[in-house]
Amino acid sequence: MHINSLRKIKNLKNKIVFLRSDFNVPIIEGKIQDDYKISQGLETIEWLVTRGARVIIATHLAKPSGWQKEFSLKPIARRLQLLLKRPVKFLPGVIEDKVKTTIAKMKEGEIVMLENLRFYSGEYDNDLRFAKTLATGVDIYVNDAFAVSHRQQASVVAIKKYLPAYAGFLLEKELRALLKVARPRKPLVVVMGGVKASTKTPLISKLYLQATYILLGGAMANDFLKYQGYPVGRSLVHADQEPVVKKFFSGKKLKKKIMLPSDVLVQNKKGMVRISLVADVKKDECILDIGPQTIAAYADIIKTAQTLVWNGPLGKFEDKPFRHGTIAVATLIAARSSGLAYGLVGGGETVDALKLTKMIQYVDWISTAGGAMLTYLSGEAMPGLQKIIY
Ligand code: 3PG
Repeated sequence: MHINSLRKIKNLKNKIVFLRSDFNVPIIEGKIQDDYKISQGLETIEWLVTRGARVIIATHLAKPSGWQKEFSLKPIARRLQLLLKRPVKFLPGVIEDKVKTTIAKMKEGEIVMLENLRFYSGEYDNDLRFAKTLATGVDIYVNDAFAVSHRQQASVVAIKKYLPAYAGFLLEKELRALLKVARPRKPLVVVMGGVKASTKTPLISKLYLQATYILLGGAMANDFLKYQGYPVGRSLVHADQEPVVKKFFSGKKLKKKIMLPSDVLVQNKKGMVRISLVADVKKDECILDIGPQTIAAYADIIKTAQTLVWNGPLGKFEDKPFRHGTIAVATLIAARSSGLAYGLVGGGETVDALKLTKMIQYVDWISTAGGAMLTYLSGEAMPGLQKIIY
């Protein structure tokens, strides 16, 4: 894989760089809940600034429709300034004349941050005119936003029609980490949870040949259990997932490498919680976590891995009584990583769960991406990477 790295740019002095970052961080009532994505982007900005570039930082936040004040990037610009220990000027627009005039007046090493790109429909529409305006007055485009590189959006795709495009350091790191999974040291063990099977099954299909085991949990496992004929009571299931799930069965027999929970934690309508074998889930019960027998079986497998990938919680981990399975698996993955196995974890909720173990530092790579990581590993198109990797 050849990456058109930022390192290849000979002279950055006074060059105006449009840096597409992904600072789509969780914000509640104006307060940033987690700044991992911002802190991972600092290295590229430092590199540009210390070489005399004039840096325009552009990102999206959430999925606003039009101008929605609660999705303004002001708090992100403030946090970036704090982390960088350098001034970051927030511009309350993106393509307006006033914004362009300020950019034209920037001095060597200065940083500005644009307002939320998704306040403009042109961004969502991958609109060429919008992209051209973004590129006007700019010398170089740098993509450091792996997490949004699966989207067909103007600042990720169309803009490359007008500017030479390079990869930032975070993008490079993400790609190199994912390569370790695409060409794994074996045994490769994949742990998949979360809600909807269809978002994960392309990846299961793709990694199936390479993987020694694929361990399933979370609500998506309910669809597999149901297809196999187990009672799932009032558990979250998706009727439309049946064709997706079917591919992993021959008749009612699950393909060899895929493991489903053998026991689960269930809660009935009255709030009573108990451990149940998957065959014994009652009509008024809801599956909310994997059970101890499953944890033990998954632990035995995780302990054999040389490469580990994890995406998606194994239960309703945001509720304390149902986080045990997710935390146990997170702990096992962290303990096995950094030496014994190469461990890669991705997805917002998955990383939140991992943090609860206080062992996050042992995992080899925490991807800043959720959907993009799944798309990339599934071998699907990543339009944001075109012209940047080949
Ligand atoms: C993410 O958080 O996964 C990325 O920022 C992409 O966001 P999106 O799913 O809103 O495009």
